[in-house]
Amino acid sequence: MNVFVLTGAGISAESGLGTFRDPGGLWRRFDPMRLATPEAFAREPEEVHAFYNLRRHGVRQAEPNAAHAALVRLESGLAARGGRLFLCTQNVDDLHERAGARAVTHMHGELMRARCTACGESRPWAEELGLGTACPACGRRGGMRPDVVWFGEMPFHLEAIAEALDAADLFVAIGTSGAVYPAAGFVARARGAGIPTREVNLAPSDTAGLFDDARYGPATRAVPEAVDEILREAGAG
Ligand code: APR
Repeated sequence: MNVFVLTGAGISAESGLGTFRDPGGLWRRFDPMRLATPEAFAREPEEVHAFYNLRRHGVRQAEPNAAHAALVRLESGLAARGGRLFLCTQNVDDLHERAGARAVTHMHGELMRARCTACGESRPWAEELGLGTACPACGRRGGMRPDVVWFGEMPFHLEAIAEALDAADLFVAIGTSGAVYPAAGFVARARGAGIPTREVNLAPSDTAGLFDDARYGPATRAVPEAVDEILREAGAG
């Protein structure tokens, strides 16, 4: 059984990382057009760097939670049954990896990595990679940016994502509002291919009506329960 799981900020909420659109969410407190676009970076690089340093600090303080751990169990459980988990996340935190996930597709990039705007080289973020430093690969100064996808930019890995989605036996969305495309369109693509779809969320998302099935509740409870169900559906390991 091949399962495609899409995660959003809701899976990291109980780790203490805010979501974006809930009350008190990041885009309720900060203007994304001033902090999360290429134009904002060109206009105010120091402000953008400071904002992402703040977010990086928050991620370092956070720990993966039971929902992240349950997806690691799903990954190994499906593999033991000859199947596969394709874990696609919109999140830029590294909690899936720190929980032990072996293969994570970050379609919106990774907060803990830096990318050179001149040569595109990506590397783990290091404090000294601030504004003034030269890119270790091409030597250009002042061009290191957070290796995340900003508004108006194309998400990463869309080809691999489409391939995995079309080959899935089940599509599950966890902790996402369904507010941002192309991720919000994955459920419609799965439905169009006759693939069963399931939403696991705190409350019905904007695209709840497109799902065949749903489990609602906090991710630390709802995701482990959903994983137990999926492994039962996948049969004895
Ligand atoms: N457990 C499960 N779900 C939760 C929890 C929780 N404890 N807390 C909140 N949620 C749900 C909310 O109900 C909401 O549906 O998580 C979702 C969070 O929605 P958003 O804040 O819109 O986050 P997300 O869907 O990941 O945003 C998508 O938008 O700004 C861009 O790049 C950003 O990747 C992000 C994308």
